[in-house]
Amino acid sequence: MTVLASALDPASAEYAAHRDAMLAKLAELDTEQAKALEGGGAKYVERHRKRGKLLVRERIELLLDPDTPFLELSPLAAWGSEYPVGASMVTGIGVVAGVECLITANDPTVRGGASNPWTLKKAFRAHEIGHANRLPSIHLVESGGADLPSQKEIFIPGGALFKHLTRSSAAGIPTVAVVFGNSTAGGAYVPGMCDHVIMVKGRAKVFLGGPPLVRMATGEESDDESLGGAEMHARTSGLADHLAEDERDALRQARRVVSRLNWRKAHPDPAPADEPKYDPEELLGVVPGDLRTPFDPREVIARVVDASDFDEFKPLYGTSLVTGWAALHGYPVGVLANAQGVLFSAESQKAAQFIQLANQRDIPLLFLHNTTGYMVGKEYEQGGIIKHGAMMINAVSNSRVPHLSVLMGASYGAGHYGMCGRAYDPRFLFAWPSAKSAVMGPQQLAGVLSIVARQSAAAKGTPYDDDADAALRAMVEQQIESESLPMFLSGRLYDDGVIDPRDTRTILGICLSALHTAPVEGARGGFGVFRM
Ligand code: COA
Repeated sequence: MTVLASALDPASAEYAAHRDAMLAKLAELDTEQAKALEGGGAKYVERHRKRGKLLVRERIELLLDPDTPFLELSPLAAWGSEYPVGASMVTGIGVVAGVECLITANDPTVRGGASNPWTLKKAFRAHEIGHANRLPSIHLVESGGADLPSQKEIFIPGGALFKHLTRSSAAGIPTVAVVFGNSTAGGAYVPGMCDHVIMVKGRAKVFLGGPPLVRMATGEESDDESLGGAEMHARTSGLADHLAEDERDALRQARRVVSRLNWRKAHPDPAPADEPKYDPEELLGVVPGDLRTPFDPREVIARVVDASDFDEFKPLYGTSLVTGWAALHGYPVGVLANAQGVLFSAESQKAAQFIQLANQRDIPLLFLHNTTGYMVGKEYEQGGIIKHGAMMINAVSNSRVPHLSVLMGASYGAGHYGMCGRAYDPRFLFAWPSAKSAVMGPQQLAGVLSIVARQSAAAKGTPYDDDADAALRAMVEQQIESESLPMFLSGRLYDDGVIDPRDTRTILGICLSALHTAPVEGARGGFGVFRM
């Protein structure tokens, strides 16, 4: 009875145009993601192989259970920066010995696997995900430590890496380090802070200071093996719990360690669920190339949730925000999806009520973004749009059920916040290639700047140069447009990845399964004062 009907016509010209626009964006995305896969480039990859070592993704593949998926996180980290795309590290969620684990792995082909400011941000985000969802973590270590030229950006904040590991351990979340190579100085504390440590014989080098530094500091002559070799740590210092013959053996041992964790998720896995009634392939044709054209988010919901079954809440009220109950891979979810773009007072109040209900019922929330923000204008200000928007932001901030956010289209202004943007701690946040996020749309922002400049000139009594204004507007528009794009935002770690719309159901399913490792408990009260 609550199965959604679809008005999408895959034979229409509109659909074809939307699909073409989305496929073009996906092709661009593929090109950029391929850069992360290249690691440090052919020369360094070849050298690494000649040394008889496995590449970072090969290590991960051997660690995971065969034929299980790996949800890679932040693959575009550092995009648009001076550092290589991917930030010399791979992070993600995968299944090891039947246990969903968080994995971080240095890419030693990128500047010796050294950590730059983006590596740090990527590692921190991975830790945050691991901790919030109580995922055991496995760290595949081979790194030249801090990227020395950028040490000022990383030395002081970077210390939190070790704090995160020990706090996870203190919270009863297991941590495992597998050391394949260099793990110097700060890096030595990764195995130092982990619950379980495996080192590869003849390869792992774990010391606070290498032989040259020791000679400088104390005059003592030493060598790598006696200072920090795997044999020494396994037989003498006791830092290594397990000595591995080679890389493959180390990964086997890591799987064995995980199989002995006696790890139990807080919630059992649900029964297999029905697929959506409509083909997810059609998600390519939903979002218009021009985001000013609205689209019905029910077309998305119908291709993401189990059996396309969506039980809408308050369908006649605040119709610019669609809210309702569904299941996704058997997990119950409450969905909030923007319809016409703008959030008015009614939509904000409806959202606040819906979020409270989900908390009472312990149901995770899924936010599907396509909003230009809260409505402005005299009528709306007088109608209390600020306090109603605040109500929604209050509800989303103090909600305790896990939140998932997907940026499908626009995500502008405080609407981004109310819909659980990055600063509101969604457990996971992904963007479609069609997404755009900024304080406001590029044209609006350039227009506002121009009006402000014109008024300022008038106040000073100076003439206003209209030609310069037009040029400035064009420049600002272009700048804001490029800064609003998902690759740019993903590069800055403002999402956990840009995803193919067709993968949305699978990815959200992996997230929902992972987050049910931790207890899902909503807030019973504990909201801020709702301004009425
Ligand atoms: N910061 C910045 N760049 C680094 C780096 C670091 N910590 N470690 C390595 N690199 C760079 C190298 O300069 C080299 O660049 P190039 O190819 O443009 O010349 C590239 O990464 C590869 O390094 P290389 O030494 O050729 O690789 P390797 O695999 O033979 O050795 C290490 C890797 C990590 C063992 C070695 O580079 C090393 O000892 N680095 C310094 C480690 C250190 O003391 N870090 C400080 C910790 S706080």
